[in-house]
Amino acid sequence: MKKWNFIFGAALIFFAALQLFTPAHTNPPVKNDFITATKPAGAITDSLRAACYDCHSHETVWPFYARIAPVSWLVASDVNEGREHLNFSDWPTEADQAAKKLDRINEVLDYGEMPPKKYTLIHADARLSEAQRKEIMDWTTTFAQKLHAGPPSQ
Ligand code: HEC
Repeated sequence: MKKWNFIFGAALIFFAALQLFTPAHTNPPVKNDFITATKPAGAITDSLRAACYDCHSHETVWPFYARIAPVSWLVASDVNEGREHLNFSDWPTEADQAAKKLDRINEVLDYGEMPPKKYTLIHADARLSEAQRKEIMDWTTTFAQKLHAGPPSQ
């Protein structure tokens, strides 16, 4: 039995030591918010906020378990990588760039790649129905087409 006490004690110390290496969870200032800039319908706004904003914006709601290593590393790496690829808090003001991002959003929704399964497993409100996905895709398609076409000529 002594042996098990020792093993359990060592594991506890190891787990406690891990907590010293919890990565920073930052929410930097919002530069150009996607929803404010593009004004989608209310239902689309709700879907994007519930299903995408935790990983693709500076308005991440960090859950309590995001403070506990080793989960904290996984969550932080998802958010950092997510923001790097697509940041709704730093939406491009350039029409061409914005249109490309909209195309990509459309693609990942079409393939059902986003939001990731590991995320919707825990966040039930982030699960998009077929209708919600289609609603966002219809909107991004029309919007991207307008941007690709450029400003109306005089
Ligand atoms: C759990 C975090 C998380 C959530 C929630 C999430 N994403 Fe992502 N997303 C990522 C990560 C990480 C990447 C980069 C790696 C990859 O492509 O898997 C990514 C990549 C992307 C890309 C590719 C960008 C590019 O062109 O390189 C798009 C577009 C995207 N996500 C859109 C969305 C949309 C739209 C939603 C909501 C419906 C969403 N994501 C929800 C984490 C997330």
